[in-house]
Amino acid sequence: MPLNNKYLNMELIDGKKVSETIKQQIAAEVEQIKARGEKVPHLAAILVGNDGGSVTYVNNKVKACEQCGFVSTLKTFDENISEETLLKTVEEFNNNDDIDGFIVQLPLPKHIDSQKVIESINPNKDVDGFHPMNVGKMMIGLPCFKSATPAGILELLKFYNIETAGKHCVIIGRSNIVGKPMSVLLSQKGWDCTVTLCHSRTKNLEQVCASADILIAALGTPGFVKADMVKEGAVVIDVGTTRVPAPEIPRGWRLKGDVLFDEVAPKCSYITPVPGGVGPMTICSLMINTLQAAKGKKA
Ligand code: GUN
Repeated sequence: MPLNNKYLNMELIDGKKVSETIKQQIAAEVEQIKARGEKVPHLAAILVGNDGGSVTYVNNKVKACEQCGFVSTLKTFDENISEETLLKTVEEFNNNDDIDGFIVQLPLPKHIDSQKVIESINPNKDVDGFHPMNVGKMMIGLPCFKSATPAGILELLKFYNIETAGKHCVIIGRSNIVGKPMSVLLSQKGWDCTVTLCHSRTKNLEQVCASADILIAALGTPGFVKADMVKEGAVVIDVGTTRVPAPEIPRGWRLKGDVLFDEVAPKCSYITPVPGGVGPMTICSLMINTLQAAKGKKA
């Protein structure tokens, strides 16, 4: 992205570059695994229905497996599939020794109980880190599979040597897969942030955000974070990936983040763009978790 004077003090966090670097490291490790004649990591994915976003995500996960040298399996179902059939497939994957880890892409159709499906996954193969066993272990700092998006954000903070100890981190959004795990991880020893988790009922949200050293927007409302909600020099992480209509381009949509990039970026020390920020890191974390699953140890 061309930078003009307006962005002089800001560094763009390049999630695409970081994720490519990490995937290359994983691929090198897989080469060594192959050279030793050991089993190549195998990630499987279950996709129900044809929601545009989910199809793209799952295809990108399959592509990332190829880049890392993993074996991948994609099982797709019509959106009318019964819960029973889905649970049977999960059981098959649980019992298939060749599959090291697998995911069930969310959201699932309304007639399927997502929590029941998540809880049916063997926690040792739950590379999404959504099973309550992994969530509980994460909560108390035990080795586990960590939810991919928060883990990807931690990788970015690490890669750019961003200081977190004693910093005030404000997270907007309390989802089970981003906001909540992010708040737990950043408050743990080693990261040492003071965390405020905000949501739709938070009072004085603008002022709370403006007090953040690190602001993480994960609410799914395009352009929600404006310049007056950001402190000068803050680190801003944008988790939003909403598809908005874009009739001017052939595919008819583009991704929009939760942060109004153009007006917020000049105030930041670091900021993630959308696309190319957190998104590629989420898939990268899934690859890290899959490698860990294959090696039989969870870091
Ligand atoms: N839907 C949105 N993000 C995710 C994710 O990280 N994993 C799965 N399984 N579904 C999702």
